[in-house]
Amino acid sequence: MPRRRKRDYLIRGFSKLLKEDKVKIVSELMDNQVEAMDLLKSFWHSDNSKQKIFDEFSENTISNYYIPYGVAPNVVVNGRTYHVPVVIEESSVVAAASSSSKFWSERGGFKAEVVDIEKIGQVHFLWSGQKSKLVKVFDELKYYLRGATKDTTKNMEQRGGGIIDFELVDFTDEIENSYQIKVTFDTADSMGANFINSCLEEFANALQDFFKTHSIFSKEEKEVEIVMSILSNYTPNCLVRAWVECDFKDLDGIYKDMTGEQFARKFETAVKIAETDVYRATTHNKGVFNGVDAVAIATGNDFRAIEAAGHAYAARDGNYKSLTKVKLSGTKFYYELNIPIALGTVGGLTSLHPLAKHSLEMLGNPSAKELMMIVASVGLANNFAAIRSLVTKGIQIGHMKMHLYNILNHIEATKNEKAKAVEHFVIHKVSYGAVQKFIENLRQT
Ligand code: MEV
Repeated sequence: MPRRRKRDYLIRGFSKLLKEDKVKIVSELMDNQVEAMDLLKSFWHSDNSKQKIFDEFSENTISNYYIPYGVAPNVVVNGRTYHVPVVIEESSVVAAASSSSKFWSERGGFKAEVVDIEKIGQVHFLWSGQKSKLVKVFDELKYYLRGATKDTTKNMEQRGGGIIDFELVDFTDEIENSYQIKVTFDTADSMGANFINSCLEEFANALQDFFKTHSIFSKEEKEVEIVMSILSNYTPNCLVRAWVECDFKDLDGIYKDMTGEQFARKFETAVKIAETDVYRATTHNKGVFNGVDAVAIATGNDFRAIEAAGHAYAARDGNYKSLTKVKLSGTKFYYELNIPIALGTVGGLTSLHPLAKHSLEMLGNPSAKELMMIVASVGLANNFAAIRSLVTKGIQIGHMKMHLYNILNHIEATKNEKAKAVEHFVIHKVSYGAVQKFIENLRQT
């Protein structure tokens, strides 16, 4: 048996090793190196050409990490039905999205609209000159910057996007000599991160030239220090709204003998709590992101960027709040989600990852705007399902039912044992201990 390697050592030149050698070294950290190597390799794709695609997404790849790829069917958005691909490990999320989507499909479906699709980038720089001079020549500077990126923006303009505008932002009260050029972009159907970052780095070079060559600036004012050029993941104007609405009576009987109005009022209180209390708001919004992230991942989009923007947006007035709002008027229930979702349906992983490509095809190859509306609707579906359970039967019943399979797999139940357990736990409360005991009893009889 190979000896286990001590964990606290530096591995030099790891990225330059062959994949086989990386697997070997990493497996030396484990109790059983041979078993560890076999495990990692067992998740390699049997088709080398497919595996190569995954290996090249990232550095130091040693295996593939599987997460279930499922479908939330019957998501009706603006009258069109989508069967939405979702990638998520949490057992109850797909069930929640599906049941909520079915529920709303019988009540007019989700409505959605894209408010705007503006993306943002910043060139941060330090400059100690007279601000009034910069303000005076700012239009000239804008023209100069546009000219400097002509080659980079040409293709994007042909696709209907490009640079929207430039703004000079003065941060000198907060940080000495600190300014930024804040640039707004339309990246059409692409996420556009590479496009934006390329433009920004070109702006940074052009900005330095502009200061150097413009006669308005004195010798000292010709010096500018570029701090960094990078897109902002905060995209409050890349915003989508999704909503559902119905009459109270369409909610009658949603749980036992609760009337639609009773449900709507309790639901409203739950959402108000999420508007008031940061602890609840965070969990409430997490429920939205259960759906949002699952579709973002399935379609090859950057879910970290979407989450970061969503949480910053939730705190836009200084207090972190729910991303959803409920309105009850007369006998009407109205529930909406407003969320920034910067995503793409062309370029990046969307065309490289075979399953991302498949997901987009399943959705009818939507434009970025259409996908924003689908993603927001699934986010709202998940959040609605969570609040509906919380204000009625609680979430643990549904959660633990789905979790039953995880527990059964964990204790290595056979197919027959699983079938018996599923039957038994229709009316019994699921817990790890209860399932374990049930299987032990089965095995003794
Ligand atoms: C669990 O993944 C998500 C919920 O906690 C969301 C919520 O509490 O609103 C159920």
